[in-house]
Amino acid sequence: MSREKRVFKPSAEFASQANLGSMAAYKRLYTESVNSPEKFWEKQAKELLVWRRQFKKVLKWKAPHAEWFGGGALNVCENCVDRHLKTERANKAALIFEGEPGDVRTVTYKQLYFHTSRLAHVFENMGIGQGDRVAIYMPMVPEAVFAMLACARVGAIHTVVFGGFSAESLKDRINDCGAKLVITADGSWRRGKIVPLKQTVDAAIEKTPTVQTVLVLRRCGNDIKMRDGRDVWWHDAWLGAPNHHKPKAFPSEHPLFILYTSGSTGKPKGVLHTSAGYLLGAKLSSQYVFDLKEDDLYFCSADIGWITGHSYVVYGLLSNGATVFLYEGAPNQPGPDRFWQMIDRHGITIFYTAPTAIRAFMRWGDNYVLSHHLKSLRLLGSVGEPINPEAWMWYYRMIGKKKCPIVDTWWQTETGSIMITPLPGATPCKPGSATLPFFGISPKVVDDKGKEVPKGSGGKLIIDKPWPSMLRTLWGDDERFKNTYFSEYPGVYFTGDGARQDKDGYFWIVGRIDDVLNISGHRLGTAEVESALVAHPKVAEAAAIGRPDELKGQSLVVFVTLKAGNEPNDDLKEELRNHVGKEIGAIAKPDVVRFAAALPKTRSGKIMRRILKEIAAGKEVKGDTTTLEDFAVVAALQADD
Ligand code: PRX
Repeated sequence: MSREKRVFKPSAEFASQANLGSMAAYKRLYTESVNSPEKFWEKQAKELLVWRRQFKKVLKWKAPHAEWFGGGALNVCENCVDRHLKTERANKAALIFEGEPGDVRTVTYKQLYFHTSRLAHVFENMGIGQGDRVAIYMPMVPEAVFAMLACARVGAIHTVVFGGFSAESLKDRINDCGAKLVITADGSWRRGKIVPLKQTVDAAIEKTPTVQTVLVLRRCGNDIKMRDGRDVWWHDAWLGAPNHHKPKAFPSEHPLFILYTSGSTGKPKGVLHTSAGYLLGAKLSSQYVFDLKEDDLYFCSADIGWITGHSYVVYGLLSNGATVFLYEGAPNQPGPDRFWQMIDRHGITIFYTAPTAIRAFMRWGDNYVLSHHLKSLRLLGSVGEPINPEAWMWYYRMIGKKKCPIVDTWWQTETGSIMITPLPGATPCKPGSATLPFFGISPKVVDDKGKEVPKGSGGKLIIDKPWPSMLRTLWGDDERFKNTYFSEYPGVYFTGDGARQDKDGYFWIVGRIDDVLNISGHRLGTAEVESALVAHPKVAEAAAIGRPDELKGQSLVVFVTLKAGNEPNDDLKEELRNHVGKEIGAIAKPDVVRFAAALPKTRSGKIMRRILKEIAAGKEVKGDTTTLEDFAVVAALQADD
């Protein structure tokens, strides 16, 4: 990437219709936004959001705690739904859904209002209101969006758990936040098979004392058990509910959702986002980064279980009155051209996906793409991991036909919205670079002391000014919040990523520099995988590391030592892979399990991951090994390679 020199300027045609059409305009607005951030955000908040009570103070910043738009009150659901009813958008499609089996549904904004209103009544009848936690474990169907919005409507805090997570992971998340209600479906379609979601919920909530009710959507019609007094069918609850619901106003800082994400230590952490600031960040960035126009049809392939699904399927897009395309299933069902079929069938104009998906499309072959027109596309996006220039070029040529700008957007669960990104009508793109900061965002590359490094040098990526959509804390663990993000550089947000800025000020993200892996764009903590492994009765010790992988970005390699009397064989490798899958979810199944007699450690007993990484990548072990307790361990691992 460091040798990448190509530059792709937005076409005059694109720039002339863009929401922001020149670098001069970007520079002017950006400079204003970081020179007087409070003035900038005040103006945006007043213009973009519907307030029930005007805010008094833009920002109260007592690092690391931020209060944005203090004194103000609003309803996030009203901002995404009701506000459009008084406009020409009332009968516009909010959602166009295609299920994996091919069923298609359209939900207009007016219908979205009825659905969220009725569901809000259902919640209130169940005793769910302001501040209660609701876990959502759903397929990518319109009802998942209704569920999130209805939570916002009644002031409940949702926590969406990706449908690929195991019962164990779901249980941990429900218990961590103390959810009273779980919303799920009988099943979800994936590669022609039914994923039995309700069955997983049943297993998870055997040990979740706070759960009172389970609301179940019928999606696949598979047989499930409904427990009397606890489980309620969505269609039954829905029947009696009134169509109209008056949304209450909640303070700007009222919690909107908790989203669990992996950290470098311990269990996943519950990132807390609040109402006004989060919504403003998601809305403003959607409008500029995706250059939204009234007749766009926008498709983001991320599941709502991830932050991308929260900000750029639901909140950022619906608050802008956009039409969002939702797809339930796998990208290669029934064939590897499913996405291209859907783009042509529905006339999708904006497509946002992850580099790992792009690399899979490349591998499946150009013919699957070339048999479709893709004429409707006008803008492409990438998110989740650094995009390698080859994948960028393929995306540009094969999918975008050299006419669609690509927005490579860098951000995180914690940042809530896009932080570093091209603006498609303005920014010349360099393949592999997320380019320049978004309005109001102040990223810097610094050394260990927090001093900015010269352009061209590598360092750690920080954001040195607060922004409205930043996380507010970790649910129930403010200490961990401070330690994780604001202790490396006191008072300044540390991203956990390494980066470099080139002479034009463009940011090149190197990737995580902590013990967090990025596997197919999914975040996974090494500690999580290790604790899953050592929970297995035959395992003594485990170390998980990432190895560069052409398709997945990183693949997961685990080194395991066994308790005495256990034989290291292929069956046990498979057993351990499945064990991790069961403990965390299929995305965490190790790609490679390696048995070792011992793991390389420092004299103080810390596992030396750097050495394991080199061994896993088939490299010679270099660098300082003097702190190693016993070099023979390394020699044995290498000999075993
Ligand atoms: O390492 C960065 C990488 O993904 C991490 C954030 O992961 P998560 O919270 O799961 O959110 C993913 C979707 C926003 C970051 O710390 N990352 C995300 N986008 C990019 C990226 N790395 C390089 N380029 C990107 N565009």
